[in-house]
Amino acid sequence: MEKNTLTITDNRTGKSYEIPITDGNIRTMDLRQIKLNADDFGVMGYDPAFLNTASCRSKITYIDGDKGILQYRGYPIEELAERCSFLEVAYLILNGELPTPKELDAWVDLVTHHRMLHETTKSFLEGFRYDAHPMTMLISTVAALSTVYHDARHIHDTETRRLNMVRLIAKMPSMAAYAYRHSLGFPYIYPDDLLTYTENFMTMLFKMVEPKYVAHPVLARALDILFILHADHEQNCSTNVMRSVGSSLADPFVCTAAAASALSGPLHGGANEEVLKMLDEIGTKASVPAFIEGIKAGKGKLMGFGHRVYKNYDPRARIIKRTAEEVFSVTGRNPKLDIALELERIALEDEYFVKRKLYPNVDFYSGLIYQAMGFKPEMFTVLFAIPRTVGWLAQWEELLLDSEQKIARPRQVFVGHALRHLPEVKEREHAPVGR
Ligand code: CMC
Repeated sequence: MEKNTLTITDNRTGKSYEIPITDGNIRTMDLRQIKLNADDFGVMGYDPAFLNTASCRSKITYIDGDKGILQYRGYPIEELAERCSFLEVAYLILNGELPTPKELDAWVDLVTHHRMLHETTKSFLEGFRYDAHPMTMLISTVAALSTVYHDARHIHDTETRRLNMVRLIAKMPSMAAYAYRHSLGFPYIYPDDLLTYTENFMTMLFKMVEPKYVAHPVLARALDILFILHADHEQNCSTNVMRSVGSSLADPFVCTAAAASALSGPLHGGANEEVLKMLDEIGTKASVPAFIEGIKAGKGKLMGFGHRVYKNYDPRARIIKRTAEEVFSVTGRNPKLDIALELERIALEDEYFVKRKLYPNVDFYSGLIYQAMGFKPEMFTVLFAIPRTVGWLAQWEELLLDSEQKIARPRQVFVGHALRHLPEVKEREHAPVGR
């Protein structure tokens, strides 16, 4: 008869333990009963970088990395990207269900009315040097919003918590646009309530002296699709940071700043900027084989390739590749696309990449679209952070409402010195310098 348990025999003591399996997993706390004697701490799981450790139970995003499946609240990413707006998907991620037409109107209205930034936000930005990176400006400005919204600390009050979540979702594009305009030395543009989330963002970024800036509908829709694709991705590095910082009950502004900091790294959201630098470095299609050989010889990584969870084509990359064609029909083809396609073609046939199941990820083609739309590479990760704020907040709220969660505090396996006593100063001269 099938039994949902795992029997472990400790060969040190000869004792056996029966551990329950729930949803296919064991609780590592159940290992603690496995001890050598009463004074022993018990067995822990050792898992650097969480390769095989679940830190939560979540209902938000489902990924099957082997099959290349991504779903938000059960809906396939392909259907959401094809038929929904970003704010509709944001509502779904945050609330668990798609909005009715009435709920959608009220939600869009709510987010629209929170897009304004307090005037003092401009002075935060003015303090940055002219050449500050927009992502770092965004991270610092999000954290600084915590000085404006004191009620953000009341995270257990549902109404206040939700209000600050809306503030964040609404103001991220405004802060991102201000950071971008600051880096160009252009005046800031106020939000326009008559425009959609992405049209308004594009206006705040690109409006110059024309009386009315009109975002190209194909480009605005492409940005909306890209935002949908980036909205959540379960327990990735930045979401793990959001949950970890959130578990100390810090306010959502500083939690989001921490998550955005994690996102900025080149192995995470910063990869899209690195892909463009890499394509520039390769220069021509003819140089691709030599570049690939260099990667295989250990000279760096093929940026925009590989994923901890996907061991198949990242479904988001497939949609982005299609969206790129639509964008290029308006903007003209990005000449780097040929280099990217050649990289993908060779890599997908090469034994090194095939054996390691390395496929293009979300960052491989997104930068090409962003560049064609007129963004500088420094803005690419900022464009990732705006929609991911929705996922961070949904995951943060799920954590707060989960009675099993506590302050995140991993254990360690101590491998340093055993107890030793302080030598006199004169005796320290020849002490080995340890790290
Ligand atoms: N180019 C060349 N080799 C690679 C790459 C790559 N992009 N990615 C992984 N490998 C190799 C790696 O060297 C290792 O080889 P070996 O077994 O011989 O040591 C093997 O593949 C397994 O890789 P890993 O480092 O154990 O995989 P990981 O799950 O720890 O890392 C990753 C995942 C995304 C950090 C990594 O694939 C990578 O650095 N990719 C390039 C950066 C990138 O595109 N990041 C964006 C990720 S998707 C969006 C996001 O999260 O923001």
